[in-house]
Amino acid sequence: MPARILILNGPNLNLLGKREPAIYGTETLADIERLCINHGHRLGLEIDFRQSNHEGELVSWVHEAMDPAFTGIVINAGAYTHTSIALHDALKAVAKPVMEVHLSNIHQREEFRHRSYISLVARGVICGCGADGYKFAIDALAAAGGEGAEK
Ligand code: DQA
Repeated sequence: MPARILILNGPNLNLLGKREPAIYGTETLADIERLCINHGHRLGLEIDFRQSNHEGELVSWVHEAMDPAFTGIVINAGAYTHTSIALHDALKAVAKPVMEVHLSNIHQREEFRHRSYISLVARGVICGCGADGYKFAIDALAAAGGEGAEK
């Protein structure tokens, strides 16, 4: 069985393509999913790509990554990045390598986007690279290989 990476997307990311294209680009979430699946396959990884507008659903999906089949998590938590202690706690509990992704450069934007509860538990953060950021995050997890759980 190939190693599996869980890719989670938070609120409003289902609107990509239509949503503030000057900031988030014109690619849809389905385009990004395809990019991730193809990139994962090239690296021999299975990609499980999901989106939810509900914090609790995202938390429950993070719990699913406790399954040993999952070797890491890529997460763009959208606005929950800046608010969700629940997602922070879930990622910490699951203790798998986490890569945080944002399409936009959150540090160039409003002050309230500068704080991330996800960064505190992430191995790395990629922002401002658009959809390619997801590819870079998959690369980082692939390079981490079977390193196993975070502390
Ligand atoms: C985002 C940045 C967040 O601040 C915002 O709330 C999003 C998208 C990004 O991908 O750039 O929904 O995570």
